[in-house]
Order: sequence, then C-alpha cells, then structure tokens
Amino acid sequence: MNIHIQPVAGLRGKMKAPGDKSISHRAVMFGSLSQGLTEISGFLSGEDCLATIKCFQQMGVEIAAAGKTGLKIHGVGLEGLLEPKDVLDVGNSGTTLRLITGILAGQKFHSVLTGDESLRNRPMDRIIKPLGKMGAEIRAREGGYPPISIWGKGNLTAIDYRTPVPSAQIKSSILLAGLFSRGLTSVSESFKSRDHTERMASAFGAEIKEGRDGSAVYIKGFPRLSGRKVDIPGDISSAAFFMVAGSIVPNSEIVITDVGVNFTRSGILEVLKSMGAKISLFNHREICNEPVADVLIRSSTLRSAEIGGGIIPRLIDEIPVIAAAACFAEGTTVIRDAGELRVKETDRIEAAAQELGRMGAKIKPLKDGLVIQGTGYLKGCLCKSYGDHRIAMALAVAGLAADGETIIEDCQCVGISYPGFFEQLKKLSY
Ligand code: S3P
Repeated sequence: MNIHIQPVAGLRGKMKAPGDKSISHRAVMFGSLSQGLTEISGFLSGEDCLATIKCFQQMGVEIAAAGKTGLKIHGVGLEGLLEPKDVLDVGNSGTTLRLITGILAGQKFHSVLTGDESLRNRPMDRIIKPLGKMGAEIRAREGGYPPISIWGKGNLTAIDYRTPVPSAQIKSSILLAGLFSRGLTSVSESFKSRDHTERMASAFGAEIKEGRDGSAVYIKGFPRLSGRKVDIPGDISSAAFFMVAGSIVPNSEIVITDVGVNFTRSGILEVLKSMGAKISLFNHREICNEPVADVLIRSSTLRSAEIGGGIIPRLIDEIPVIAAAACFAEGTTVIRDAGELRVKETDRIEAAAQELGRMGAKIKPLKDGLVIQGTGYLKGCLCKSYGDHRIAMALAVAGLAADGETIIEDCQCVGISYPGFFEQLKKLSY
C-alpha cells in the first residue's frame, strides 16, 4: 500500500496515544503466566502484540478481546503452558521472539519459533548465549538467526549476566527465564534500557529489585504470580511522530493524552526540548506502576543537537523521526552510539540516510549513527519504507513539512505498532 502525503498548513487538535507496544506484550506474557484472571485495558492491537497473544493461545491460554482495547486472560500459572502443536510464528516482532524464548527456555517441552523475512535476519545469539548458560538448549540457523528451536527441560540455573549492549529485549528474556530458575538471576547493563518487564513483574507479584547503583536488576525464581487489572499507558514511541510533526509543521498545536513518560523511554522529550521544541507536560499521574502525562506541542524553530551515550537506549526507536526533525533544525545534528539501529526491523541508519537523502536532506550515515545538516527544506518524492513501520511514519512526518507530494511505498507496515496512524494524521491536518 502506497501512501500519498501532502504538505499541510498546520496540525491541530487533541489525540490519545495508542497503547504502549512494549507494555502490551508484557501484560499478555505476565497475564498468561499468572494464576487467575487478568483484565487489560488500553491494549495495543498492533500486529506485533497480536502475535504475542497468538503464541500464548497456541500454548493453551484462553485470551479473549473485551471491547475495543480490552483483553481478558485466564492465566495458567508458571507451570501451566502446554506444548504448542505447531511452529510459533511471531511475524515481524523481535520483542515477542526474544522475550518468549526466555519463557520457553524454562518449559518442559519442545518449541520452534519463526518470523517474517526481516525477523529471520535479526541476531538471536544475544539471547541464545545467556539462556544457554542457564541450561537451555536452543538451536538457530547458521549465524544465530531464526527459526530457532528450544528443547525445554525445565529448571534452569540462575546466572549473573552483563549484556554486551543495553537492550531491554536481552534483559527481559533473561529475567523471564529467571522466573524458572532457583535462586536469584541478575542482569546488568552499561546504560539502563526500558524497565517495563521489571515494573510488570513486580505488579504481578514477583520479587524483583535493583542493585545499589541501579545498573543491575535481580529476580527471584518461582514466584507466585497473580492475575490483576492492567491499564496500559500510551506509547511515547508512537506519540513521538506527532511531537515532531507538531514541532516542524508551522501553525501547529497538538495535545496528546495518556503518554507513558517512564524515564527509560523519555529521551525524546529531552532531545526535542534541547532542540528548542515547545513541549510541555501536564496532568502527571501513575497507572499500573508506570508514569503517565499529557503532552502539549506547538510549532517552533528547532536547533541542532548532539545525541549519544546513555540517552540512546532511552530513545532508540525515535531516532528515525529525530533525524527527520534534524533536517528542519538550524545547525548540524550528530547521532552516535546507536549501532543497534542497524539490527532493527531494517537497517535504520541506512534507511534514514537513503530516504531522507532522496528528499534532499544533507544526511550522512556513520557506523553507529547519523550526521544531519539542517537546511530547513525537503522536497516530496517517491520513498521506500523498507517494510519498517517506524521508517514509514518518520517519512510521513518529513513529508508533511516538505515541498510537494511525498509517496511512501509499502505502508501497511504501520499496522505493526500504530494501526490508524494515517487516519490520525488526517484528523489533525488542516
Ligand atoms: C523493546 C526493546 C527495544 C526496542 C523495541 C522494543 C522491548 O529493542 O527497540 O522496539 O519492548 O523490549 P532492544 O532491546 O533490542 O534495544
């Protein structure tokens, strides 16, 4: 599906951010592994999260929709999953594959996981290695790529593991395997990645705590997890497209309600503020162990930023749209320490450099980032999404502020994290 984006005079109105993708996955996982009923509201019905539901249904968990964004899960407890009778296909979802593998490693049955072409080219060694140290027997294709098969024998060994890169998917995979290991499992990182697994585990009754300096997290095996109500905050990574659009399109004023502003995710707010964006937060509150706020964005004149180090894991998914913002900022923006972008749904460094470059941006790829010289001008043209939802949406945002029409190919992929994205854009445009 090709999408045609026309430049707009402005964006105005109020919108609700769609449910957080990371938290939606985890709510289904913990709900399934708990005893009793879990009722979820604000669930993101994107393709990735639907893939997670399907996996647990294949393992005997009863999960039913309840209204537009609600789910009812009849949890089977830590030891109640059944052997899936077929391959578990997680589609495009790296989070599903990496997190579920941690859970499957602790089961007493065999399972096989696969995904789409993009996922089958993403590295899984990063989880296979530590889970192997815990006693799991996992095989992958040559090079550590999916499909992977897991010969579960139950009873894993607790380990202390330091991740080679800050990654919530690696950390969460090990912590979930830690649920099936006697004693304390710990994971430490050089910079803290998103902590939704930790918060969710604690909300469901697991014993989980941070080390003194905050770099390590410990989980105790075989907790009693109990079903509960979970209200899922809006996804800051989805809201980010409207934050940038509201900043770079003149005459804009947008209020986004219910945005999750967890510190491990809110790097985008700091970067946009440092670039001179007019962004303010109000109505701060907490839902289900997660901080939430409403966000007001007004158009502004942006300046460049230097982005690197510890803030990178806190905004990793927002870098394509930050690159779009940088095209309209005065000065040269440098993004470093973001080599992980090369192993996302597509190589996002190359994709951003290629496609924004095609629109006339002065953008250069680095091994671990991007250099963008802001010119304040892009011209619409035919662009590729590479089947990557965040590249498609970042290009759409760039197209709103460009001169002439932008056509983006293969846009059905936005359904992975933001069904209704283009409709929302249309509603706010005038
Ligand atoms: C996610 C973690 C991040 C992020 C992804 C979602 C998660 O990946 O890019 O979109 O839900 O844990 P990494 O852990 O590989 O950095």
